[in-house]
Amino acid sequence: MSEKGDVLVTVKDLCKNFGVTVALNHVDMEIHRGEIRGLIGENGSGKSTVTSIIAGIQPATSGEMFYKGKPWHPATSLEATQAGIGIIVQEMGTIPSITVAENIFLGNYEKFRVGPIISKRKMIAAAREALEKIGIMDIDPARVTGSYNMEQRKLIEIAKTMANDPEMFVVDETTTALSENGRELLYRLMRRAADDNKAVVFISHDLDEIMDKCDAVTVLRDGNIIGSLDKEAFDPDLIKKMMIGREIQGDYYRSDMDGYENQVVLKAENLTTMRDLLCFDIELHKGEILGIGGLSECGMHTLGRALYGLEDIVSGQVTLQQSGTRITTPEIAFQHGMGYVSKNRDQESLVMNGTIGVNIQSTGYKANRGLGIFISAKKEKQYAQLQVDSLAIKCNGIFQPVSALSGGNKQKVVFGKWLAADADILILDCPTRGVDIGVKAAMYQLINEMKHKGKSIVLISEELPELCGMSDRLIIMRNGEISGEFLRQDGYDNNKLIDCMI
Ligand SMILES: Nc1ncnc2c1ncn2[C@@H]1O[C@H](COP(=O)(O)OP(=O)(O)OP(=O)(O)O)[C@@H](O)[C@H]1O
Ligand SMILES: [Mg+2]
Repeated sequence: MSEKGDVLVTVKDLCKNFGVTVALNHVDMEIHRGEIRGLIGENGSGKSTVTSIIAGIQPATSGEMFYKGKPWHPATSLEATQAGIGIIVQEMGTIPSITVAENIFLGNYEKFRVGPIISKRKMIAAAREALEKIGIMDIDPARVTGSYNMEQRKLIEIAKTMANDPEMFVVDETTTALSENGRELLYRLMRRAADDNKAVVFISHDLDEIMDKCDAVTVLRDGNIIGSLDKEAFDPDLIKKMMIGREIQGDYYRSDMDGYENQVVLKAENLTTMRDLLCFDIELHKGEILGIGGLSECGMHTLGRALYGLEDIVSGQVTLQQSGTRITTPEIAFQHGMGYVSKNRDQESLVMNGTIGVNIQSTGYKANRGLGIFISAKKEKQYAQLQVDSLAIKCNGIFQPVSALSGGNKQKVVFGKWLAADADILILDCPTRGVDIGVKAAMYQLINEMKHKGKSIVLISEELPELCGMSDRLIIMRNGEISGEFLRQDGYDNNKLIDCMI
């Protein structure tokens, strides 16, 4: 009989190189039955790499693994799934063009064979069961996956992972894609698995979340294991120090109380979209950081999209006050000095097969003009290189494809692209999502610098400390409407803010 505390997976002397990049450097790690093990470390430290090797997504360069006491070298993720190791990946792990049911049982269709055909009916029924098993009733397994939003697709992926009753599963930076309900659902599944003597590896940049949900934590830095702590020894300052290799000051938000100008730069009037927003009025001022908060489904993400011309508007309008330009498409927004960082990074903010350079340079065709109509290759290179340097994007150079970057480093590319554009108005939807604390601090500083240069920023976020730390003014939304408005100068009261959210 397997018991709580038994070693389930052992990773020994594991190395992984990507060309000249050393992603894992002689990593040793143990995962025990009955535990939720947190894995934490800066962007590019190797968290996704080590877990994806355990889960059969890619092979190691060298080293050994053991699973249930036997040598473990899965050739594919399907092999790992069938042996009881599942993973909810950091990126999108479902295929949009096939049905929910087909995603849930991807590679596993044989079990629905009836004579010469695969029974769709059976597969759909089984998929419905898999969804219901984790408490999801409102996703139709017969529908095409791409018709669901980012969060729902993550839930489909969770159902897929849980459908196989894994002995161990990895949750890679998933909670930032989920609303409160989705998070709670996932936490319950994690806890239940640990209680059943299974194991969970949980990856997150949210230290509080890690300390709250995990029984032990392992810290990675630059592909090296720095150490592990059991729950009794959890100490945020110690963990941060292990992650970064030096002490970092507690508070990294802006400390000034500088206000903003009276001039309104962007205005939404009576804004009503096909989904979420009801007669919304909002004004953004020059030099203002306007925070927008609320529960994930409150409509704030739709608001961000609508301000950038990305939503179908039923009535009302978004206008640039100086020129009177109406923002109806993202092209118009971009041409008039606006920028937008989407919460849905991979689908909406990056050209995945493009290089880092191509992605950053996409905002710079005006700035990088050389003679006549030609683009200066030299300027373009500098344009991108500057961002790579100032944001410390971990890469081999601007010619590396974005798809080869770690999640947080991809996010830095998106942020850098808009920094480079020197946009006057920035709509930032969860800009620090998946970004480690060191880079977060740098991003906050850059946002504050932009403010002080007279730029205007809408900061949409699910993290209250970030909103309170950065905003001049803070609007809380509930059910598509404003439920409260607060000013920095009055001091933000967490309880009042939360009251407005729920
Ligand atoms: N396919 C790839 N090709 C080249 N380099 C890669 C590839 N995948 C990962 N890397 C590199 O390996 C290192 C570790 O990346 P990994 O994705 O494991 O980081 P991470 O700890 O998950 O970071 P994050 O918190 O940003 O998700 C990074 O330097 C990354 O750029
Ligand atoms: Mg990662």
